[in-house]
Amino acid sequence: MRAGIIGIGSFLPDKVMPNSELEKIVDTTNEWIVERTGILNRRIAQAHISSSDLGAEAARLAIKDANLKAEDIDMIISASSSPDCTFPATACIIQDKIRAINAAAFDIQAACTGFVYGLTTAAQFIMTGKYKNVLVVGSEVLSKVTDWQDRNTCILFGDGAGAVVVSQVQKGGITTSFLGADGSGANLLELPAGGTKEPADYDTVKNRRHYIKMNGNEVFKFAVKVFESSTRRVVEKANLTLDDIDLIIPHQANIRIIDAAVRRLKFPIERVMVNLDKYGNMSSASIPVAMHEAVRMGKIKKGDKIILVAFGAGLTWGAVLIEWNL
Ligand code: UT7
Repeated sequence: MRAGIIGIGSFLPDKVMPNSELEKIVDTTNEWIVERTGILNRRIAQAHISSSDLGAEAARLAIKDANLKAEDIDMIISASSSPDCTFPATACIIQDKIRAINAAAFDIQAACTGFVYGLTTAAQFIMTGKYKNVLVVGSEVLSKVTDWQDRNTCILFGDGAGAVVVSQVQKGGITTSFLGADGSGANLLELPAGGTKEPADYDTVKNRRHYIKMNGNEVFKFAVKVFESSTRRVVEKANLTLDDIDLIIPHQANIRIIDAAVRRLKFPIERVMVNLDKYGNMSSASIPVAMHEAVRMGKIKKGDKIILVAFGAGLTWGAVLIEWNL
């Protein structure tokens, strides 16, 4: 059996935060942010909004796009670096919000690679015939786990959500997939406190250990490397060449990462989806939001071959090759 995307949706908070607002918060400039990252704006959720709220909105739109009802969903896989809480799973909270009463629900923790891990997992449940319709959601309210005193990281992140419904298809679909991890790089990008290693106490709060910490330079080098290798792996596994690929939709972390990896691949930048200028890095939500935007812009047509490629904390990385069904 083949698995493919039969519905897609995305949802972004209304509030736009331009670089000029960051100039008032930390010692930075619009010029530095644009030159080093390509980011101009990001969206920021209201104080009462959590990841499941944005995820549920994106999920409703994806289910509608698939011409299904929430009751038709058999399983929900949620990927988030900023989940509602450690437990229960954000997927369960989304399940309740959208009333997907027949769905099993669980979370995947693969940070910015979460959507690619989730999509790969969903495809297995469809290909074995175990389930008919699996919803994969990437949703983030990173603004609540961002250290707004740290200019190295606070300029990067934004809030948003994207979702897809994965079901059985007759042709094409999720053709090949490749996932990787290297836990020896765990400390390069982390939210250190609040778990059992560093439980919340006075010092963890005082030392700002409940916010994202990143070694930007090391993550940058890692990202360029695995972007290239993961892309090559899925193309080779599918017995294709990069010339056969219509569009690459990468994780939207930094335009310089995308430019460097695409140069190494000798792939035309015109066939790469970029929207990080508008939204910044939305971790697990970056790829589904960019994919939905590419569909609406007419950049993806039925039968097109697209690659989703991601990298992030863990360290984790992965890519999926899809022959588009919609
Ligand atoms: O989604 C998960 C994956 N995450 C990523 O892929 C992020 C990967 N890393 C990056 O995108 C980049 O490393 C950053 C954008 C985070 C940083 O860019 P960079 O070109 O690697 O800058 P840098 O860290 O080497 O810093 C260069 C200089 C430093 O000053 P000195 O030491 O040269 O005097 C920083 O202190 O820029 C300074 N700097 C800033 N200046 C103005 C760092 N952040 C800022 C800032 N505004 N916001």
